[in-house]
Amino acid sequence: MLPTTARLTTQETALWKQAAALLAHGRPWDLVHTEECLGYAFEIAASERWPPDLRRLVIPAVMLHDIGWALIPPEKHEGRGYSREESRIEHMRIGAQRAGELLRKAGYSEEETRRVATMVGEHDNPYIGKPFANPDTRHLREIDILWRLNPISFGKDVALLAIPPEDLLKRIREQFAREDVLSPTGTRLAEEMEVALLSAFEKPIIEQERRNEGTQ
Ligand SMILES: [Fe+2]
Ligand SMILES: [Fe+2]
Repeated sequence: MLPTTARLTTQETALWKQAAALLAHGRPWDLVHTEECLGYAFEIAASERWPPDLRRLVIPAVMLHDIGWALIPPEKHEGRGYSREESRIEHMRIGAQRAGELLRKAGYSEEETRRVATMVGEHDNPYIGKPFANPDTRHLREIDILWRLNPISFGKDVALLAIPPEDLLKRIREQFAREDVLSPTGTRLAEEMEVALLSAFEKPIIEQERRNEGTQ
């Protein structure tokens, strides 16, 4: 299968180069997080037959939504992802500013630039209890939170939060229910990802093998 970024238009590819260079200097997972999110975006857009003008705005918003983490001091990446409200707000604000500059440079219109930058500037609003100013941000939010069920993110969160996988899964389900942003395709993706996680995080086969060895 082609890498997700091979599906980008020429204009998006130019923007992606700028975004990726920043993401590589953000939190350790920001680049892979964004690449995976682009994959969810393409799948949801195709499955739900998004109109071209929606796709045209959401794809750059996905690419740019977390560039702000690279633009704030690493010590503000508190808890490596479990940031204080202040850091969350800052990564959205600074990210939106830089996103605007990059979008204009890549040839997006003033209106497109404004709408995408708004999405970047408010994508984490549910964490701080604020509504979205641009209704399209809901799509970005859906794509962003699906990542929580990605095995890379899930494994990282189990380690960083030091909680059992089943408790983390419960927290994620609660978050999804609270935010209520999953579309039918997002729900299907979440279900598929959850099944994959459950089988991967089941009691390791190795434990069973050890028990078997002990009884021999
Ligand atoms: Fe973010
Ligand atoms: Fe994100």
